[in-house]
Amino acid sequence: MTAVRPSDRPTVRVTARAAERWKQGHPWIYRSDVAAEPEKKPGIVPVTDRKGKFLGQALYSPTSEIRLRLLTRGDQPIDARWWAERIAAAAARRNGINATAWRAVHAEADGLPSLVIDKYGPWIVAQLLSAGLETARADVLAGISAALAPEGILLRNDAAVRRHEGLASEVVLALGQVPEVVEVVEDGLKYLAAPWSGQKTGAFLDQRENRALVGQHTRPGGRALDLFTYHGSFALHLARHAKDVLAVDQSTEALARGVENARLNGIANIVWREANVFDLLRELERRREQFDTIALDPPAFAKTKANLERAVAGYKEVNLRAMKILADGGVLFTSSCSYHVSRDVFHAMLADAARDSGRRIQFVAATGASADHPELLNVPETGYLKGVLLRAVV
Ligand SMILES: C[S@@+](CC[C@H](N)C(=O)[O-])C[C@H]1O[C@@H](n2cnc3c(N)ncnc32)[C@H](O)[C@@H]1O
Repeated sequence: MTAVRPSDRPTVRVTARAAERWKQGHPWIYRSDVAAEPEKKPGIVPVTDRKGKFLGQALYSPTSEIRLRLLTRGDQPIDARWWAERIAAAAARRNGINATAWRAVHAEADGLPSLVIDKYGPWIVAQLLSAGLETARADVLAGISAALAPEGILLRNDAAVRRHEGLASEVVLALGQVPEVVEVVEDGLKYLAAPWSGQKTGAFLDQRENRALVGQHTRPGGRALDLFTYHGSFALHLARHAKDVLAVDQSTEALARGVENARLNGIANIVWREANVFDLLRELERRREQFDTIALDPPAFAKTKANLERAVAGYKEVNLRAMKILADGGVLFTSSCSYHVSRDVFHAMLADAARDSGRRIQFVAATGASADHPELLNVPETGYLKGVLLRAVV
C-alpha cells in the first residue's frame, strides 16, 4: 500500500475561522473558508493556517461545498494501517448489540468522515461518500479487511450525496462474495436484508433499538399498525405481542421480502398491504378503525432545507391521522429521519398534531438512532433520526 504523507501533496491553507472550527471539534471546512488550494485534485492533503502553521490532514474534495474533512491533527502517514486502527477502534466501541447486523463505522461521528461501514454477519457493506475518501479506496479496503476480516466487501456507492462530490453512482463488489440476501437475527427475530438492492445498505439498522422499544410497548392481544413498514422490521416486533398487524408500504419488492420475513419467524398474523400511507390513513379514519399500537416511520420528507415547510406539513398530516385512529390507551411510535427537521421542530409539529386531534397525548419517551449510529454533540450533522413514543390517554 502507498502511504500518503503530508509532504506528498501541496498544502491547502485555510482561514482563521476554519482553524477555529477544527479546534472546536467540527471536522468540516467549507469552500468559503479555504484561503489557497494549489492543486485541485481530490485526495488527502496537509492543511495549514494562512501563516503556514500545520493544522492537520484532511480529505480534500475540490468540487464540493465541504472542501475539507479533518482526518487527524497529526502528521503520521494515512495508510492502510491507519485506517485499520481507526476502524477497529470504532468497531470495538459497539459491544452488546443484540443483532448480527450493525454499523461498525458511522462516518464523522467515529472520526472517519464520509465513511460508512455496516456489518451483516461476516459481510461488509460500505459507502465512500466523498471525493477525497474515494482516492484512498485501496487503503480503506485494506483497513476494513485487517480490522474486520470479512468474507466479502460490497461498496454501495449509490448514495445521492456522491453527486455533490462529482462521483459516479455504483454498486461494486470489492472483495470476496456478498450474497444477494443476508439473514439477520435481531432481538430474537430473523429478517432478510438485501445488501445489493435494498434501501440504505440493505436494511434500516438505525431503527433497531426503536423496534425493540415498540415491541415492549405493544399491547398484548391488540390491533397493531406498521406504517411505512419496508420489509416489515417493526411489524415483526409488533406481531410477537399483538393479535394482528396491518403492515403498509408502497414498495412491492420490500413487501415481498416482508412476507418472507414473517414466514422465517413462523409469524402468521401480519396482513401486508401495498398502498400509499396518506391514502390508507384517510380510509382507516373514514372507516373509524382503531389500533392499539402504531409504528410510523416515514422516509425523509425534507430532503433539503428549502422544502422544510412542506415536509413538516406532511409529517403533521400522517401523525394527526395516526393520533385519530389510536385506541384509548394506545401507543404511537413516530419518527423522522430528515436531518433538516430538528428535534425542536419535530416535537412542535407533534404538539400541533396533538392539539388538532383533540386527544390527550402523553409524551412517553424521546429516542434517537441506535447506539451504533452515534451523534457528536458538537457536530449536529451527525444526528438525523428522531423518535417519540406517545400514548393516548382518556
Ligand atoms: C424509513 S423507511 C421504513 C423503514 C422500516 N420502518 C424499517 O424499520 O425497516 C420508509 C419506507 O416508506 C416507504 N414509502 C415512502 N413513501 C411512501 C408512501 N407514501 N406510502 C407508503 N410507503 C411509502 C418506502 O418504500 C420505505 O420502505
